Amino acid sequence: MIKLLLDVDTGIDDALALFYLAHAQKKGEIEILGSTTVGGNVEVGQTTLNTLKIWEMLELDIPVAAGAKQPLMVPLNPAPYVHGDDGLGNTFLPAPKKGPSEESAVEMILRLSHEYAGELTLLTTAPLTNIAVALLHDPDLAKRICKVVIMGGSVFTGNVSAVAEANIANDPEAARIVFRSGMEMTLVGLDVTHEVYWEEQDLQALVKIANERSAFLLQIIGFISTAYENLSGWKRCVLHDPLAAGVCLFPDLVKCEKRYVDVELNGELTRGMTVVDRRGRTPLGEENMQVALEVDAERFKTQLMESLLAWAREG
Ligand code: RIB
Ligand code: CA
Repeated sequence: MIKLLLDVDTGIDDALALFYLAHAQKKGEIEILGSTTVGGNVEVGQTTLNTLKIWEMLELDIPVAAGAKQPLMVPLNPAPYVHGDDGLGNTFLPAPKKGPSEESAVEMILRLSHEYAGELTLLTTAPLTNIAVALLHDPDLAKRICKVVIMGGSVFTGNVSAVAEANIANDPEAARIVFRSGMEMTLVGLDVTHEVYWEEQDLQALVKIANERSAFLLQIIGFISTAYENLSGWKRCVLHDPLAAGVCLFPDLVKCEKRYVDVELNGELTRGMTVVDRRGRTPLGEENMQVALEVDAERFKTQLMESLLAWAREG
């Protein structure tokens, strides 16, 4: 069974990923060993509260360790206009009953990497600051991790700029450390996540349930859909982080190419861009990760919706 550690900046789409993973755990498909948080969509105090609260709503006792407040070199650039001031669509949920773990995010990452050496899958849906700091503490971490699935980057497009994706752009220096670590990596970037989204007509089954749980889910989905409409003109909930979670469970949801990928740190217009070398020979370096380029969007959207419906119907 897949043993999973999550690094998140919860966040509406991070939250949807937690619902998906919780459902998978209830079906016995994975074991979620822990979750670490980082500043990203909102500041880390809030992403920690949100992660605790979502686990509580899912009736799962999964430890949450708080991580980095700031990227390695630059101030945090949060996105309350996408995720709400509280990171969860301005639903302003009551505080979680449980607090975060005493250990830090880096301590949790290193501890679990020893306890489950060779077995641990790491899913990151946030800036890579915690993972980079853990690698700086102990570069051998890379040898103990089975694989890392990263929601971040892209080959052909960007969201926070024409060429950069938010999780990588929020801490490019951290991304470079992770990309050069030697870990087995899969990059689930905007090329595939932009193909996987819900529009109003996809939500009818959830609307029909009409209880408190479905209302919460529809509120957060509605918030991010409107935010996306303001930014792009398309009213849709793009399922970035849930898709990366899906790829942890079902790698065949995406078709990948193994490529050399690095991060631009300096460009005036391109800082945070993932540079994917797709030439036949790659003089920049050895192929260091699988890059997702195609996705079975319908299969994944069905899986994700099933997980939300299951939780909402139990309410
Ligand atoms: O670019 C999409 C990513 O940025 C997602 O992880 C979202 O939650 C935000 O952090
Ligand atoms: Ca995220």
